[in-house]
Amino acid sequence: MIKTRKELIDAYLKFFKEKSHAVIPSSSLIPENDSTVLFTTAGMHPLVPYLLGQKHPLGKRLASVQKCIRTTDIDKVGNETHHTFFEMLGNWSLGDYWKKEAIEWSYEFLTRILKIDKEKLTISCFAGDKDAPRDEESAKTWHSLGVKKIKFLGKDDNWWGPAGKTGPCGPDTEMFVDGVEIWNDVFMEYNKTHEGKFIPLKQKNVDTGMGVERTLAILNRLDDNYLTEVWKPIIEEIEHLWNIKYDTEKNKRIIRIIADHAKAAVFIAAEGIIPSNKGQGYILRKLIRRSHALIHDLHNVGHLVSSLVSTIMNIYADDYEELRKTTENYNRVWEIIKNEEEKFGETIDAGLNIFKRLTHNKKILSSKDAFLLFQSYGFPLEIIEDLCKKDKIRLDKKAFEQELRKHQELSRTAAKGKFSSGLADASEKTTRLHTATHLLNEALRKVLGSDVKQRGSNITQERLRFDFNFSRKLSPDEIKKVENIVNEKINQGLNVKREEMSLKDALESGAQAEFGAKYPDRVSVYTIEDKKDKKGWFSKEICTGPHVSNTKEIGRFKIVKEESVAAGVRRIKAVVE
Ligand code: ALA
Repeated sequence: MIKTRKELIDAYLKFFKEKSHAVIPSSSLIPENDSTVLFTTAGMHPLVPYLLGQKHPLGKRLASVQKCIRTTDIDKVGNETHHTFFEMLGNWSLGDYWKKEAIEWSYEFLTRILKIDKEKLTISCFAGDKDAPRDEESAKTWHSLGVKKIKFLGKDDNWWGPAGKTGPCGPDTEMFVDGVEIWNDVFMEYNKTHEGKFIPLKQKNVDTGMGVERTLAILNRLDDNYLTEVWKPIIEEIEHLWNIKYDTEKNKRIIRIIADHAKAAVFIAAEGIIPSNKGQGYILRKLIRRSHALIHDLHNVGHLVSSLVSTIMNIYADDYEELRKTTENYNRVWEIIKNEEEKFGETIDAGLNIFKRLTHNKKILSSKDAFLLFQSYGFPLEIIEDLCKKDKIRLDKKAFEQELRKHQELSRTAAKGKFSSGLADASEKTTRLHTATHLLNEALRKVLGSDVKQRGSNITQERLRFDFNFSRKLSPDEIKKVENIVNEKINQGLNVKREEMSLKDALESGAQAEFGAKYPDRVSVYTIEDKKDKKGWFSKEICTGPHVSNTKEIGRFKIVKEESVAAGVRRIKAVVE
């Protein structure tokens, strides 16, 4: 009988390997080539180019277990089945098999391998609308397998995707056990365009997703996912640290939210994201602050959310390189979370007092007052909602969001003003910064020693940001030396070459790989050639690009900041002029 997370994942990947699927590694939680979403929300996300028709180096049948973050259902977190971070098992056909095989294999895996009673299985299929016909083919396949409990529903329920604003999507058939959805087979034959049209894709794809946490709960006959092995140690640690019991519905809700947010925060921080006021950084900030506020409310603040880091890392240490239990990994994540809590700790009490004053003898918190808490005391909307709910105070969320938008528009206009002073085209500018990052990476190793490894990078059209492992502040002299090497390589006008090869060949040829990143078996490698170098090149990195074709195009390189981000990790910000 399959009972544990590891057994489930192994059985799934083995099953699809036997059906000629290549297993691909979990991608980063930060999508590489999709700026319309903040996080990888499903196993298909890293596969978008291949669903659109690009050839995948490992073939037409793939399977994986993918780490995911979803924030759209964040207000549902607190019940038995919703999570911000979760793992998704998936199998894909890229223009290969279609509905019959996908459904038959789903059924076989559920009933033969997981031994789920077919009587417990209920199914939903797409009812059809103006964009796509009713999915009789799926229903027929389920019927032929002896599954009778099938209902037809519309787009809100039985259509999946695109993951971002545009891209592959299609009708799906969903599998429920005891009323909980555990698996979804999506038939991606449409591409949603910017205009909101659904046009047929070049190829018919299958994209499936099975939630690890939910399936584990079912296999262990638990009606609460938080009692499974991937949550229970965290729940117990919370009970122990803050002297609260996982018993009443009220306590359970609080404990689940703390556990959920802490786990998601650990995974996001481990990707090298730092709390900030925008993008992924803001989600991380929200997760940390909300769980901190809930703990604060327990009036037992001897410990912080960061006390949970070790327990969370333990659960996943064997499967994710970035959560492997080394002092360095631990310190990095712990410090990010602890720093954010300390920052919030400075304003939370003042904010809570203001909240009390603003709502004294009142039944409503105005959007202006809510915005004050948000803006001046750093309270994310979710915390304000928690406070209002607790004191039975009404909050006009729409009005608050309007206030927020007004403010954002003002700051966007300000930002536009600042950057409309004749900068080069964004993509050209970011391409130059991309190649400058490779030169910087190598220059740092030349000046500081070959142990220096990249720990993350981020490029906007204004600057590059580069994190690397090093234990102390760089001296002004070292910074100058690094800058000089980069500028020398720019002035030499070196050619930049792109090649595709196996991961093994890439690493053997001396290509740099980012620490902790997982790569597919075939990768592209960018080489900055240098005839004067014994090796024939200055820099070689596994990278998806884009890059300039000659370093001359980069312009003048300048480091504008060097700082610490976590124990043993430094950050450089640099520009090209
Ligand atoms: N991409 C589909 C989902 O997330 C399988 O449900």
